[in-house]
Amino acid sequence: MAEEIDWDSLTFSLTPTDTMYLTETSADDPWMPGNLRPYGPIEMSPAAGVMNYGQGLFEGMKAYRTSKGRVVFFRPEENARRMQRGADRLKMPPVPESIFVDAVEQCVQANLKWVPPTGKGAMYVRPLLMGSGAVLGVSPAPSYTFLVYVTPVGPYFKGGVTAIDLLISEEFHRAAPGGSGGVKAIGNYAPGMMPSKNAKAAGFAEVIYLDAETHTFVEEVGAANFFCVKDGVLYTPELTGTILPGITRDSIIQLARHNGMEVQETKVSAQFAMAADEAFCCGTAAVISPIGSITKGESKVTYGDGQPGSVTQQLYNQLVGIQNETLEDLFGWLHEVPL
Ligand code: PLP
Ligand code: COI
Repeated sequence: MAEEIDWDSLTFSLTPTDTMYLTETSADDPWMPGNLRPYGPIEMSPAAGVMNYGQGLFEGMKAYRTSKGRVVFFRPEENARRMQRGADRLKMPPVPESIFVDAVEQCVQANLKWVPPTGKGAMYVRPLLMGSGAVLGVSPAPSYTFLVYVTPVGPYFKGGVTAIDLLISEEFHRAAPGGSGGVKAIGNYAPGMMPSKNAKAAGFAEVIYLDAETHTFVEEVGAANFFCVKDGVLYTPELTGTILPGITRDSIIQLARHNGMEVQETKVSAQFAMAADEAFCCGTAAVISPIGSITKGESKVTYGDGQPGSVTQQLYNQLVGIQNETLEDLFGWLHEVPL
């Protein structure tokens, strides 16, 4: 492990590591395995498709150092498949799952000393797929780059696992029907920066986006999925194409059903969410973050006195327990990185 790092003060920010992975292909050729190289700038044409028209995708995944001394990924094949679906949507050549998984493994192996100790954080792994070839008209780039870099991270929200205060955005939307909200297109994120910054300046941790058609139903919390609990039932917005199908979201649904809980993937109105008993958001970066309050215009509701509700706490313990290998990997979600 890197001795110079103070693992206790890790936040969700970039610490440059030693090595990254890169491979390139033309639009018509198959992907070939790439190579590791020193972490650092890459050269690209000013006319690259990604820089001019946002033809790019990213993924976010974590490698954990577990209580058994192993380093594991959490369901990396799901990230590979989500990137393939995104590639289809943005007219890019999908990276085969075997190349994707091999790339993220190699990157973690090459930067092993940066994987935090158990319970102190994780190694965040960031695969990027982009149209790197030059193109002037609005059309797919002639060539593509797939690269992976890694960085050790701590909690996504300031304050770690404490309940967060959220603001429902009444003016801005993240995604429209038929658009790219259901894939991890890089272009989905910049339009959220201003609403998010404004909300943070007003004391909130993030914004909640409602659906763009009716302004009624909860879609996502910034870059995380939304859940709430009402009368013992777990609710989460159904995947309608405008919501990113989170891998953490899917895992939580499976865990809750395994616990015998009823789970409803359905339309969740802001009104319903604000009358719920518990609420939380989840994602690779956010893990499970309990929601302490939601504000919409002049109304504000609070949940559980700033303490996570019992369902939220149980799901958090189960998810993190599986990731740390203090609990059994009941669903076969862990993927060992050979050391
Ligand atoms: N929603 C958005 C918009 C995201 O960017 C992310 C992060 O990847 C998520 C939800 C959570 O997805 P996952 O659990 O796969 O990390
Ligand atoms: C993730 O949860 O991995 C994300 O992508 C969230 C954010 C850092 C974009």
